[in-house]
Amino acid sequence: VIPISTSVVLQLCSRSADETKKIAARLARLLSSGDVICLEGELGTGKTCFAQGLGLGLGVRVPMISPTFTLVREYPAIWPPVQLYHIDLYRIQSLEEALALGIEEYLYGDGICVIEWAERIREIIPTERLWITLSYLGETERGLHLEATGAHYEEVLRELTQQLESPASSCAEP
Ligand SMILES: Nc1ncnc2c1ncn2[C@@H]1O[C@H](COP(=O)(O)OP(=O)(O)O)[C@@H](O)[C@H]1O
Ligand SMILES: [Mg+2]
Repeated sequence: VIPISTSVVLQLCSRSADETKKIAARLARLLSSGDVICLEGELGTGKTCFAQGLGLGLGVRVPMISPTFTLVREYPAIWPPVQLYHIDLYRIQSLEEALALGIEEYLYGDGICVIEWAERIREIIPTERLWITLSYLGETERGLHLEATGAHYEEVLRELTQQLESPASSCAEP
């Protein structure tokens, strides 16, 4: 049997906004040019917080604000020295709208993309990517479900799993 595609999954629980940023910063240190990180989850589950943590881990020195009113914000990263594209599709009504705004150039370029509301453009997201689903578990608790597709992202996720002290840590049921 030849597997068509495989995936590696990591389920985490964050107990504070700070912890979410730290997890994201750890992940960031494992990324390379062209990587695509998708964020899915309701309002307030911590997508922007996660993107900010990624920025910290990539050495972005300016504060990252929510890009809600601009589709894409661009930040110079240091490790690796590429652009970080923070994309927020909250106000996108259709895939066509995203395409008209040139979103594919970011997705398939050399920079690192972190995309809030990525499910809105699921059809054009590269097959190989890291997909992170955030969920609300309590006032300061968030579930983070990370799914890697493709050898590179699987390796990233395996490495992250090893680095985190207790990857199996779980939150109490909501
Ligand atoms: N464990 C946690 N992880 C992330 N954010 C948290 C957590 N606990 C509380 N929060 C709060 O939830 C909010 C998340 O907001 P934000 O990152 O803008 O979410 P989103 O972009 O998904 O709408 C922030 O006010 C943050 O302080
Ligand atoms: Mg947001």
